[in-house]
Amino acid sequence: MITLPHIKLTISALAAVLLAVVPSHGAERELIQPGMPWLDTEGIHINAHGFAIVEHEGKYYWYGSQKIPGKTESEKNEAGVSCYTSTDLLNWKNEGLVFSVSGDGQHQEVAKAGILDRPKVFFNSSTRKFIMHFKLYPPQAAGGTKGTDVAYVGTASSSKPLGPFLYEGKYTGGGSPNGTGDFGIYQDEKGTFWHIAVRKPDKMLVCGKLTADGLRPAGEYTVMEGVTRATEAPVAFRCAGKIYLFASGSTGWNPNPTRMFVADHLVGPYESLGNPCQGMNPHNKLGPEKSFGGQSTFVMPTPGRDDEWIAMFDIWKPEDPINAGYIWLPLFFHEDKPVIRWQDGWAPTTAKLR
Ligand code: DGJ
Repeated sequence: MITLPHIKLTISALAAVLLAVVPSHGAERELIQPGMPWLDTEGIHINAHGFAIVEHEGKYYWYGSQKIPGKTESEKNEAGVSCYTSTDLLNWKNEGLVFSVSGDGQHQEVAKAGILDRPKVFFNSSTRKFIMHFKLYPPQAAGGTKGTDVAYVGTASSSKPLGPFLYEGKYTGGGSPNGTGDFGIYQDEKGTFWHIAVRKPDKMLVCGKLTADGLRPAGEYTVMEGVTRATEAPVAFRCAGKIYLFASGSTGWNPNPTRMFVADHLVGPYESLGNPCQGMNPHNKLGPEKSFGGQSTFVMPTPGRDDEWIAMFDIWKPEDPINAGYIWLPLFFHEDKPVIRWQDGWAPTTAKLR
């Protein structure tokens, strides 16, 4: 028997609790447990941050920034983009780096980048290529005082989901010489891909169509009217003919309340729906006022449902980024408004049970 001030547990009960929470090496995971370390099939915490999920030919691909052990977010701390694969969204196999910052012959703009962040990958069915966009910030020497005065978007492509992705160059988004910061990629009902991004330096949220190959802006950007200034980490999806946009405020690596907006068209005008988060993350005691400790990153439809999505967040740890975490929660509609309610454990196929 283990006796702690308020807890009495037999060894077997303790083992049962631990097994339920963190599957050991080789054990199948049956639940998504937001805010808990998410171990891959080798038992190692998934290292793919600021991520995107792509479904392709019966498999899911989780692409994210691979953080370097021992480096903080104020150092050059990304090795590139890693990929994990799964058939159930629960158990993920590490497939390694699909785009490496320091790989042989890598372009100097990538090799020397100060930041390579928030990779978003999508499959362009017309070219049959996987396209990657990422925040590409030049090193301090090339980008002014903080190394972030000009912020680019880098792109890379591959004909296979596991890469290798080849660098395709960079662009300054938003129609601004200073470029853009956080961004999302949205595909409209006609199949056109859009870049939704925070324009620098005025922090307006803007959107612009991408070229047919998906690699760069096709033309002008439009301010997304009605979206609060300094909205970051934008994530958009379409439901019953409306566009929903959820995002964060702008407080560096620290969490803030999630913002939700709705519009009839991607360009707007948007109406604010307030904060869709409900409940509390028991692991850090943070609720809607801090988005459970997370920041929005991505959204995808819940498999097999047309009225429910999976809202995905990063929990940043700027001093220990490799151990930064994830929050995935069902996003459902209640009285015509999207709700993201905390759950300790849930399975994508039973997302309706709560
Ligand atoms: C918030 C952004 O959303 C993150 O991706 C990162 O750029 C931090 N800001 C940096 O402060």
